[in-house]
Amino acid sequence: MKKNRFRHLKKKLSLLHCISFFFVSLWIKQYKNMKKVALITGITGQDGAYLAEFLLKKNYIVHGIKRRTSLFNTDRIDHLYNDPHAENKDFTLHYGDMTDSMNLTRIIQEVQPDEIYNLAAMSHVKVSFDTPEYTANADGIGTLRLLEAVRLLGLTKKCKIYQASTSELYGLVQEVPQSEKTPFYPRSPYAVAKMYAYWITVNYREAYGMHASNGILFNHESPVRGETFVTRKITRAAARMAMGMQDKLFLGNLSSKRDWGHAKDYVEAMYLILQQDEPSDYVIATGITTTIRDFVKMTFAKLGITLEFRGEGADEKGFMTHIDNDLFSETVGANFLESLQKRLKQDIVEVDPRYFRPTEVDLLIGDATKAKTRLGWKPKYTLDTLIDEMITSDIKLFKKENYLKDGGFTILNYFE
Ligand code: NAP
Ligand code: GDD
Repeated sequence: MKKNRFRHLKKKLSLLHCISFFFVSLWIKQYKNMKKVALITGITGQDGAYLAEFLLKKNYIVHGIKRRTSLFNTDRIDHLYNDPHAENKDFTLHYGDMTDSMNLTRIIQEVQPDEIYNLAAMSHVKVSFDTPEYTANADGIGTLRLLEAVRLLGLTKKCKIYQASTSELYGLVQEVPQSEKTPFYPRSPYAVAKMYAYWITVNYREAYGMHASNGILFNHESPVRGETFVTRKITRAAARMAMGMQDKLFLGNLSSKRDWGHAKDYVEAMYLILQQDEPSDYVIATGITTTIRDFVKMTFAKLGITLEFRGEGADEKGFMTHIDNDLFSETVGANFLESLQKRLKQDIVEVDPRYFRPTEVDLLIGDATKAKTRLGWKPKYTLDTLIDEMITSDIKLFKKENYLKDGGFTILNYFE
């Protein structure tokens, strides 16, 4: 009798268990349906990685498009990865390419995004002179492919679109500082391709009533900035030189000026742009401009190294005139001091005309008043805190490489 009652109770409990499991899964499903869905192209890039992290924190379901590459290209988003076999994933990657309309259309149909952030691009200005046709295809027509896919799939009312436009559009600047009203004068195949992308975004907004907006972002950097952009090239070189892993830093035009911000602040602006009731185009910038030369000086100064530039044009050189031993020991390590001291008074930065561009953009400085007033956007980082974060991260990276080298392992040079 007692046994029977126990069996009965057990049955009841397991039924209760099943019912509660059913309701919990239903609740999870409904909750997931309430979450916004974002699709990010260029998710493996600097901005894609920061934006994905930002949106996941805001409770989005994030889908990203990555290219097929012969080696893994997901280092920057590795920390966001879910096991592909896990249930209820909030982060999913799809293979795709901006040059493949059918692939883009299929992904958008599958994902049914509320927001698309189009960040994918061949984004290197100098390289665009070597690959102008591909750049036009991926950066220019690629944007058209996305917009047209959204339109053909009938998602124009559901899906908001952010287009990664750029301060490179201003090129040979017609006004200082540059705002949303400044006329464009692109100076590279990259900028010309981005100009098409800018206007086709505006056109789809006006023609089809789409919530499509351009963020005209000025240069933004971070510890995960691509290694061939000038800021990261400098912070990497400073770290390597401090540890005796590199002799010289070769750069191109030292006199051009850029308005540098931190990518973390800039992805927040992307998000804010899509949260507005009305689509519009916004300049995102700090309003402060600095020469490449000063960026070099500021970076080395973080390690206690004073640089003085002498000469002009291709003959200009940066000499190491002083080492603050205490600061160097604190930031890099006393064990590296002796070998660096041997190079005191020598030139460690040189100009290599190979890095000059056929047409240069000499001065960029943005006026972000519209973003500040309408979006309430304000950068948290200064150039000083940006450089601090970048050089600290590169010192850490190359200390790790040094350990590997000392342990007899091969490390890569990654020369450019
Ligand atoms: P990035 O680090 O170079 O990342 C570019 C991303 O696009 C990468 O994920 C790359 O994939 C992907 N990509 C390139 N070609 C592609 C193609 N054909 N199909 C699919 N994906 C492709 O650039 P970022 O600094 O994050 O910049 C993001 C966007 O903002 C770019 O459109 C850039 O032009 C624009 N922008 C950047 C800045 C800036 O200062 N950072 C300023 C203004 C505008 P892989 O990883 O496989 O190479
Ligand atoms: N890359 C690089 N390498 N640039 C150098 C070097 C060098 O060795 N030496 C000097 N420079 C100068 C370039 O000539 C340019 O004037 C400036 O440093 C910045 O170059 P990059 O860091 O390559 O960036 P960018 O300004 O050309 O383009 C970046 O910012 C744009 C926004 O204004 C990219 O992120 C673009 O995708 C983005 O649209």
